[in-house]
Amino acid sequence: MIRARSLTKDFVVSKRQTVHAVRGLSLEIEPGELVAVLGPNGAGKTTTMRMLTTLIAPTSGSATVAGHDVVAEPAQVRRRIGYVGQGNGAGHAQRARDELHCQGLIYGLRRRAAGQRADELLEALDLTELAGRKVSDLSGGQRRRLDVAMGLVHAPSLLFLDEPSTGLDPHNRANLWEHILRMRERYAMTIVLTTHYLDEADSMAARVVVVDHGEIIADDTGEALKSKLAGDRIVATTDAPDDTRRLATLAERLSGVREVDAEGSQVEIRVADGPRALPELLAAARDAGVPVATAQVHRPTLDDVFLNLTGRSLREAEAGPNGNAGPTRKDAA
Ligand SMILES: Nc1ncnc2c1ncn2[C@@H]1O[C@H](COP(=O)(O)OP(=O)(O)OP(=O)(O)O)[C@@H](O)[C@H]1O
Ligand SMILES: [Mg+2]
Repeated sequence: MIRARSLTKDFVVSKRQTVHAVRGLSLEIEPGELVAVLGPNGAGKTTTMRMLTTLIAPTSGSATVAGHDVVAEPAQVRRRIGYVGQGNGAGHAQRARDELHCQGLIYGLRRRAAGQRADELLEALDLTELAGRKVSDLSGGQRRRLDVAMGLVHAPSLLFLDEPSTGLDPHNRANLWEHILRMRERYAMTIVLTTHYLDEADSMAARVVVVDHGEIIADDTGEALKSKLAGDRIVATTDAPDDTRRLATLAERLSGVREVDAEGSQVEIRVADGPRALPELLAAARDAGVPVATAQVHRPTLDDVFLNLTGRSLREAEAGPNGNAGPTRKDAA
């Protein structure tokens, strides 16, 4: 469905400044896949999508999308894809149904077919009751659903969604996802989306592509990415430095232990299986008479994956200027 080879995009901002937004990105996506592209602000996600959707030309490299070259055959590509951009696509003065109807006409549907398609999508995305409302009067979540409907008017086999759920509250996010997954089933679509929500990428997409500084730094299932990390983390605290040292010694004897760090009142333990090791640690501490104040198991998240790959957490990378120079964490794995 998508085959990108060494795609690059440079933006020449001024004589002295060129932004290397995408640097040699290669990617293959099979029909039917649901792929989440994850990365901090400025990583090059939108630029990549804009190249794949023929909106901007690559500086170098090539890509075919739905079997057609994005540079040589843009019209063929556009016919087969839907694109829901970052921010709102739908206009403001029109009513929701008119907006969809119009979009259908633009895509060459006849008046009646466009009307039928509009009604079908309104129904599928739970917008029927809002058909007569002005787009500007819709809530953020409703408008985002309408944006998705707009992208589906011409029944594309591939849908690009650039941050579909950004800015929505958790309820609306979940609701939008329900609709996206339902659309995917109903129309057997391939979906490529970007998101900042790690939990969302993790739970919704089978495949996660992590992008940083315009390059793919990881590409696998969420589970596989996490399992490559050094296992679970147990963080335990005591009320006295002496107890911390003794607890650390006990931790070193745990089954599946990989690393033990003691600092201040805290012991951090890397183990293969945290939920199993924790009771073992607590039993050992009780037997040895070491009082444990608190203990928690942390299973790896996609943020840990990002931290492990880049030395910065995704949240910190977001805070960095342009997302390109986030501070480096000294405790990077
Ligand atoms: N038209 C442009 N001119 C100059 N620089 C640009 C242009 N478009 C994007 N950039 C730069 O290219 C880099 C990648 O931007 P892009 O929008 O692809 O990032 P992103 O991963 O989508 O980020 P976000 O998560 O914030 O949406 C950024 O440094 C951005 O400032
Ligand atoms: Mg973007």
